Amino acid sequence: MRDDLKEVLLDEAEIEGICKDLGAKITEAYAGKPLVCIGILKGSVMFMTDLIKHIDTHLAIDFMDVSSYHGGTESTGEVQILKDLSASIEGKDLLIIEDILETGTTLKSITELLESRKVNSLEIVTLLDKPNRRKADIEAKYVGQKIPDEFVVGYGLDYAEKYRNLPFIGTLKPEIYSK
Ligand code: IMP
Ligand code: MG
Repeated sequence: MRDDLKEVLLDEAEIEGICKDLGAKITEAYAGKPLVCIGILKGSVMFMTDLIKHIDTHLAIDFMDVSSYHGGTESTGEVQILKDLSASIEGKDLLIIEDILETGTTLKSITELLESRKVNSLEIVTLLDKPNRRKADIEAKYVGQKIPDEFVVGYGLDYAEKYRNLPFIGTLKPEIYSK
């Protein structure tokens, strides 16, 4: 599997540093208020488990599964809800946890849907941000790392469902895409 990689963009220590830093900022922002952390499946799972260890307030977790990519590396602009939340979020303070913000189509649809459920507040934390790719009018309040417009895998992020188990973020050799 590791032979498919071109380079490492963020190693394990850098990711751990980002989680600590974001966790401290979020802890300070909520100042003891309870919150609901919503992980967007499946890409955010590793980031979510590491990040919430560094958030020092009472929190609940829930998950939502949406699909905007259909196995390739380009967004189709469509978002399909595959799994909805398991509990009511009315009146709650929500923190959406995402792996990567690219065109913003996915998060735009999710935030519009969740805001319509009368939440008290809604913020977004994303590990990675590709600002040059943005199409929808949306930004994350908390960003781990801005990256250039390149397809990345690892630490939850996949290419055709592979590479999610890598403990770091990296790029793939071009020949992997042309297979
Ligand atoms: P957006 O709707 O274009 O912002 O796409 C966001 C979603 O696309 C993310 O949650 C990822 O699942 C996926 N995605 C975007 N860029 C990458 C990437 O470089 N590698 C892997 N998945 C990506
Ligand atoms: Mg995702």
